[in-house]
Amino acid sequence: MQFEIVDHPRPRSAEEIQNILADPGFGTNFTDHTAVVDWTEQDGWHNARVEPYGPIALDPAASVLHYAQEVFEGMKAYLHNDGSIYTFRPEANAARMNKSARRMALPELDEQVFIESLEKLVTADKAWVPGGEGEALYLRPFMFATEAFLGVRSAKEVSYRVIASPAGNYFGGELKPVRIWVSRDYVRAAPGGTGVAKTGGNYAGSLVAQQQAVDKGCQQVLFLDPLHENAIEELGGMNVFLVTNDGRLLTPELTGTILEGITRSSVIQLAKDRGLVVEERRITLDEWDTGVRSGEITEAFACGTAAVITPIGELVDGEHIIASTGTGEVTQAIREELLGIQTGTVEDRHGWLHRLT
Ligand code: PLP
Ligand code: COI
Repeated sequence: MQFEIVDHPRPRSAEEIQNILADPGFGTNFTDHTAVVDWTEQDGWHNARVEPYGPIALDPAASVLHYAQEVFEGMKAYLHNDGSIYTFRPEANAARMNKSARRMALPELDEQVFIESLEKLVTADKAWVPGGEGEALYLRPFMFATEAFLGVRSAKEVSYRVIASPAGNYFGGELKPVRIWVSRDYVRAAPGGTGVAKTGGNYAGSLVAQQQAVDKGCQQVLFLDPLHENAIEELGGMNVFLVTNDGRLLTPELTGTILEGITRSSVIQLAKDRGLVVEERRITLDEWDTGVRSGEITEAFACGTAAVITPIGELVDGEHIIASTGTGEVTQAIREELLGIQTGTVEDRHGWLHRLT
C-alpha cells in the first residue's frame, strides 16, 4: 500500500517545537501530521495517507460515538545519538491491535501497513522527538467505527489513524514513586469481557475509580480480580510487578482479564537475563501486605509504554496503607536497561528495535 504524503501548509516553526519539547508533559501537544487509512466492507483498506493534523469530520451517527467500537495502541519513537529514530517491538503492537480488533469486531490491519504508518508519520514529524532522559515521541495508533448507523452491529466503515505527541514523565515532573489506590468498588474487567483488548470502553469504565484515587491523593488505581478473591490484576493503564529479597520477580499471570503489556513481557525477559526468577501467578493483596511487612517484598513497580517503569510507593487500601519502599535497586536497574535499549545506549540483544527513520 502506498501512502500519499500531504504536507502541512503551516507547520510549527523550529522555535515553537523547541518550546514544546523543553517540557513535553504527557498527551497535550500533537505534531503537525497524522497518518490515516480508511476501510470499508466493500473495498477493504485503502486511501493510505499522511495529512495535516486537525479535527476530523464525523457523522453524529458514527457508531463509535454510540457503541464505542474502537481499539488503540500506545508506543514510542526514541531519538538515538546519531539522530536516527527507532521504535520498540512494533510487531507486538501490530499483533495486539489485531487481537483487540478481533475482540471488538473491527477489521485487522496488515502488520506492514501498521509499521509503515509509523514510519511515514515519524519521518514527516521527526523534529518532534524529544531526547531527554525518559522522553520520547508517544505514538497513538487507533481504529474506530465511522459508519453512520444506529443499529447494533459491527460497522461497515472504519478509520485507522496514528497521532503523535512528545512525552516526558506520564505522572508529570521528575520520576518519583507513585501512590496507588486499591479499587474496592469497581472492577476493570471480567472473564469473557473486553479486559484483554485495548479498547476505549475499558478506560471509560476505569475513570470513576481513577477519580476516587485522585480524591485520596493517589495517581493510579489498582484493580483486583472480578470475582472478589483479592487477587491483584493491573493498574488503570499499567501492569504491576513485585520484587522479593531472594531474587524473584512476581507479576499476575495473564488470566484473560489483564492487558498483555509489551513492557511487561520485555521486563520479564530482562529479569530472566539478569538471573532473577520470574513468577507469573496469582498474587493476592494479602501476600503483598504480609510480604512488605515481613521484608520479603522489597520493591513494587508499575510498567507500560507511557509509564515506562515507575516505582510504587504507597498502596492505599481504604484506611490501610501498604508502604512499599521507594525506588529499589532492581526497579532502577531494569528501568535503566530498558530505556538504554530503547534509546540505543545498551545493546539490543533481543532485536527489539525497529528503525523508523
Ligand atoms: N495495562 C493497561 C490497562 C494499559 O493500558 C497498558 C498500556 O498500554 C499496559 C497495561 C501496558 O502495556 P504496554 O507495556 O504494552 O504499554
Ligand atoms: C500506554 O502506556 O501506552 C497506554 O496506553 C496507557 C495509558 C496512557 C492509557
